[in-house]
Amino acid sequence: MSRRVLAVLGSAVLALSMAACSGEGAGSGGKDGDKPADLTIGVSMPTQTSERWIADGNSVKEKLEAKGYKVDLQYAGDDIPTQSQQVDQMITRGANVLIIAAIDGTALSGQLQAAADAKIPVIAYDRLIRDSPNVDFYVSFDNYKVGVAQATALLVGLGVQNKDGSKGDAKGPFNIELFAGSLDDNNAHFFFDGAMDTLKPFIEDGTLKVKSGQTKIEQVAILRWQQEAAQKRMEDLLTSSYNDGTKVHGVLSPYDGLSRGIITALQNAGYGGSGEMPVVTGQDAEIASVKLINDGVQNSTIFKDTRLLAEQAVVAGEAFLQGKTPEANDTETYNNGVKVVPSYLLPVQTVYKDEIKPILIDSGYFTAEEVAAGQAKG
Ligand code: BGC
Repeated sequence: MSRRVLAVLGSAVLALSMAACSGEGAGSGGKDGDKPADLTIGVSMPTQTSERWIADGNSVKEKLEAKGYKVDLQYAGDDIPTQSQQVDQMITRGANVLIIAAIDGTALSGQLQAAADAKIPVIAYDRLIRDSPNVDFYVSFDNYKVGVAQATALLVGLGVQNKDGSKGDAKGPFNIELFAGSLDDNNAHFFFDGAMDTLKPFIEDGTLKVKSGQTKIEQVAILRWQQEAAQKRMEDLLTSSYNDGTKVHGVLSPYDGLSRGIITALQNAGYGGSGEMPVVTGQDAEIASVKLINDGVQNSTIFKDTRLLAEQAVVAGEAFLQGKTPEANDTETYNNGVKVVPSYLLPVQTVYKDEIKPILIDSGYFTAEEVAAGQAKG
């Protein structure tokens, strides 16, 4: 709380001093006659601990540089004050547009006010920035559908439903446990809502049983999406709810990193190998998890093509630099608490073992060798 107040005060001071000394503002979008080489795009990414953000940052940078723009790319190490400071610096160094994937969707209001005062358009990248009027555009995937797809994969893995949506042969009851992402990430709520809307009828009719009784997002969320924290929570669940010999049959996991922590806890408790491995879902198609899916250890992941997302961010950024309004394909879903932010949303795809080749390898996202090795060549 106090950190947040301090951050806001700090940014207010910054905004005032910028207004006092620069008149027009440091960035001010593009001006007529500006060449790409005169324009800088600040790109603020949350962390390098997850492959996807590294791929996102690199793709956005490469695509902008290919068009001749300058790029100021920063990673914040999942630390909120670091991200605030990096965005402050981008503004003072003269960014003309900001592309931001926030760690905490509500923590950057001060920076965004400074950006607005300097007339720098702000694009929220994948994660919506909340509680600020100063977010101009949002590029992401259909995050509710990600949750629906994760829950559907769990149902398919358990045999309750078939891939084509028809009713499966399995009747249950199956013991499942639920995980969600970081509560300060708007996406975590969309994923969980989509998943729970899909699972609810099966929980209500007794096909699925959440044995721990933990079904609220506050009970199942993992701060900063940390793999170790997910492993610890799974270990605790096994000790507290499955020490009577009953088995867990499925785990709803919203992100591959968490899935790997969950899988480690399960394997340490004797699941897998000769015994059966519970159905564990995921997201992001991280290479280590794609290998686990290929090896039959993880059930599935949800693939979000970050190359396409980066492309949309570049299209939107360039529109702003040319004084235009980027084209949205959704102007209803993403209310950030202050306004509905015009959005461009991309579709998602579920990848089970059979889809690794057609979706990930044939599209050039990974090579067959990378999947076999569980490591990207980079
Ligand atoms: C992203 C997911 C990612 C998660 C953890 C979310 O905001 O939408 O793709 O798995 O953050 O990095």
